[in-house]
Amino acid sequence: MEQQPLPQLPPASVSFDDGILRAIDVGDVYFSAEDGLAESRYVFVDGSGALNALADASHLTIAETGFGTGLNLLALCEAIAASNSRCQIDYISFEGAPLDAKDARYAHDAFPELASLSDDLIANWPRRWHGVHRFSMLGGQVRVQLHYGQAQDTLPRLSFAADFWFLDGFAPAKNPELWSQPVCHEIARLSKKGTRLASFTVARQARTHLSEAGFHLEKAPGFGRKRDMLKGVYDKGFIRTQTRPAEQVAIIGGGIAGAAMAHALTQLNIPHFILEQAEKIATAASGNPAGLLVPFLSVGDMPAARLSISALADARKFAELHQLIISSGVVSLDFSERKASRQSKLAAQGFPEDLATFLAPKDVAHKIGIDIGMGGLYHSAGGVVSPPDYCAALMADSPVYTNAAVAGVSGEEGDWQIRCHNDQHFNASHIIYCGGAATPQLIGSGFLPKKQFQITSGQLSYMPQNTALSPLKMAINYSGYLLPCGAGVQIAGAGFDPDERREVTKEGHHQNLALMPEALKSLAASPDSYSGRRALRLAVADRLPVAGEITDTRYMLTALGARGLTLAGLLAHSLACRIGGRPDFLEQPLVAALLPERLRDL
Ligand SMILES: Cc1cc2nc3c(=O)[nH]c(=O)nc-3n(C[C@H](O)[C@H](O)[C@H](O)COP(=O)(O)OP(=O)(O)OC[C@H]3O[C@@H](n4cnc5c(N)ncnc54)[C@H](O)[C@@H]3O)c2cc1C
Ligand SMILES: C[S@@+](CC[C@H](N)C(=O)[O-])C[C@H]1O[C@@H](n2cnc3c(N)ncnc32)[C@H](O)[C@@H]1O
Repeated sequence: MEQQPLPQLPPASVSFDDGILRAIDVGDVYFSAEDGLAESRYVFVDGSGALNALADASHLTIAETGFGTGLNLLALCEAIAASNSRCQIDYISFEGAPLDAKDARYAHDAFPELASLSDDLIANWPRRWHGVHRFSMLGGQVRVQLHYGQAQDTLPRLSFAADFWFLDGFAPAKNPELWSQPVCHEIARLSKKGTRLASFTVARQARTHLSEAGFHLEKAPGFGRKRDMLKGVYDKGFIRTQTRPAEQVAIIGGGIAGAAMAHALTQLNIPHFILEQAEKIATAASGNPAGLLVPFLSVGDMPAARLSISALADARKFAELHQLIISSGVVSLDFSERKASRQSKLAAQGFPEDLATFLAPKDVAHKIGIDIGMGGLYHSAGGVVSPPDYCAALMADSPVYTNAAVAGVSGEEGDWQIRCHNDQHFNASHIIYCGGAATPQLIGSGFLPKKQFQITSGQLSYMPQNTALSPLKMAINYSGYLLPCGAGVQIAGAGFDPDERREVTKEGHHQNLALMPEALKSLAASPDSYSGRRALRLAVADRLPVAGEITDTRYMLTALGARGLTLAGLLAHSLACRIGGRPDFLEQPLVAALLPERLRDL
């Protein structure tokens, strides 16, 4: 059976007529020609009831169909700032045909009072990649999850309970899909008793489907020349109680998983600390001097690829912000017939240019500075980072206890005592196990079958930087990888030995050479001159990480395999949302695919 490809986004097709942004295909405008900002304030921010709620609520979840230029988000931020509200907001929006940043900026220019908010939004404007994009506004008070893809496909994959809905997806007559019965039922599913909605339209289709889904609707005076707008309240559903936020989270392990957890918890103001057995952070797998950020793409629609794409967008953004990119871009070589055929299928899937572009051999040669007669996929958003620097940037604002080797955990849910080998004790309401290869031992086999975990040892070869390989300008990826020279060496990685050896061996160097395509191998110096580094990776058979609850107040983020640098950040933020009772942005099928629980069934 033909596999469904990963969904891609359609090209944006917009025009500006007299300064008014219009969707050419749909034949509708993005916002009122009269005064879009005034309409947004009137219909959505005020008309939904959100403005009132800002005064007293400590947290609100506001969802929107049709992000467009983000004008409703800007109007909301403006209202928050003007009212000095301290309310934390999760803003969840859906967009099927994302605009380019420059078009959005041009549209915002009509509202000079929004200039500084627009600057923030445009600085965060996501890459045009299908999937979820996260960013925040107002210094983190408003956390945005922007889901790129058709709302009718994305909504059923999410789980949250909105307090308010802004329904802003073009006129129903011109864009019926977004007002269809299934979409309105999804809007209801993602609501709770008392959820309010607002829309500029009172079209019959919208009213029929929303009221069938359980919303009690009323017409209210519309904005400007429009006679009516729509308001609604959800009468059904449950009153959902807010999860009690975690009081103190202990993160066990100071590698990239622990560091990413610390950063994610910091962003949600959740108290936490890290326990690391070594003298300093990032000494195990995350202690390699350099590693790749690179997407995993699949020919069919696979959870691992969806995860990898959103995670790379997230990781690259963090790395750029903290100036962690040592070398930008990665080329995945067509180094074997099998890989070449897979890559040409990938190239035909129409990924965005900055995610994957097919390069002919001469273009690869130009890009990487060495002619090896091979084509490949160029990932401009990929790159090389230093894992210890990455960890340090992630943990910058978190308490870290080093020389704290956890020996055991006792207590009960929400009240854990952690004992270290040096007899130090720590208390925590929640624990997150991020111990890398030591995690299975740390949690004990009573919880999860230890046999499901696979530990492999991998070696980096530090090669001299005066060989015919040394002109390499950009990281290349094959079965292993080769990095541009840095800090006096050129790094090649990394084989997978199914054991737990930790010493660097000549055999390991030969193995790294053997992974190289012939054209590269012949340019390398003799392994006698190499030094190196070895570390252990943890994975499970399905090659997906393990992220999620093992009991009510114990979690794991581990089994990052050979992709921890790309994946840890996004997964940690998803877990932190769950720990903090905030809406998770990861699609539920993906959340389920990553749960520790799945290991019982493998
Ligand atoms: C040779 C090699 C090359 C790699 N190249 C890449 C690459 O290019 N790109 C990429 O994305 N990934 C790469 N990886 C994989 C990547 O390094 C891992 O996915 C990632 O580092 C795992 O991070 P972690 O935090 O889960 O584990 P670790 O980095 O191993 O961290 C676990 C931490 O837990 C601590 N710990 C363990 N037990 C205890 C305890 N009882 N008490 C307190 N602390 C404890 C350890 O000391 C350690 O610091 C490579 C791996 C190897 C081995
Ligand atoms: C009226 S505009 C949004 C106006 C928005 N307030 C703004 O600031 O521009 C509607 C938006 O909904 C998006 N949209 C329409 N149908 C969609 C669908 N099925 N899924 C996701 N987004 C959709 C359009 O691409 C467009 O950006």
